[in-house]
Amino acid sequence: NEACGGQISSAMPAACAVEMVHTYSLIHDDLPAMDDDDLRRGRATNHVVHGEAMAILAGDALLTLAFQLLSQEIHPAHSAVTCCRVLSEAAGACALVGGQVDDLYHEKITRSDTEDSEALVRDLEAIHNRKTGGLMRASLLLGGIVAGGGDDELERLGRYGSALGLLFQITDDLLDEHGDESQMGKRVRKDSDRGKLTYPGVLGIAESKRRAVALAELAMSEARTFKPAGEKLESLAEFVLSRSR
Ligand code: IPE
Ligand code: MG
Ligand code: MG
Ligand code: MG
Repeated sequence: NEACGGQISSAMPAACAVEMVHTYSLIHDDLPAMDDDDLRRGRATNHVVHGEAMAILAGDALLTLAFQLLSQEIHPAHSAVTCCRVLSEAAGACALVGGQVDDLYHEKITRSDTEDSEALVRDLEAIHNRKTGGLMRASLLLGGIVAGGGDDELERLGRYGSALGLLFQITDDLLDEHGDESQMGKRVRKDSDRGKLTYPGVLGIAESKRRAVALAELAMSEARTFKPAGEKLESLAEFVLSRSR
């Protein structure tokens, strides 16, 4: 938002809408039918405290409220419509939901040693781009849209967001392998037990880290095209690369 010359207060409804979609996706991701996790943000997960039915409904309510908020609070109306379109694409079947479907599908299938490894990496990247990259990209775009950013600015923000999103999910996979549960506030070392397709699982730790560094550099080079707010975007990419939580 600041990168396109906006006022931070005008970005709040869009920021809250993204956070609502994000939180809904995590509540559902933690359900027994999905990743079956009992710890999130250092606390018992929603379904552990309130039961599965309430966790499903909490997610449904958050997802719906996100679009109610965008439609009510974003002005002018054409910006509200664009925000709804961008966020719904990122949350929908071709992005977040589709990525989660393939994440779970790959958990269930048994892979043979002879499997084409390039195809596996393509599947992996497509899952991560959709389940995480799409929402990160949308969060950058929404900030730019409410600030009245031009097509060129939105394109650069979108590229930054996609790189940041894939970087975020690679470091999430790495932290599942060697992260600290109390710092992360969620269970670790679960992905390989569940047969998830992950970066360290497919490419190994060293190559995953190398790709993370390359994505952080890509994000930072896009960030530097924004002055002066690009510095914040640059340090965000640096943080995501080196985070331990
Ligand atoms: C979840 O990915 C992505 C979503 C769309 C919610 P993960 O399943 O890897 O996230 P964590 O590790 O449970 O936080
Ligand atoms: Mg998951
Ligand atoms: Mg999970
Ligand atoms: Mg994870």
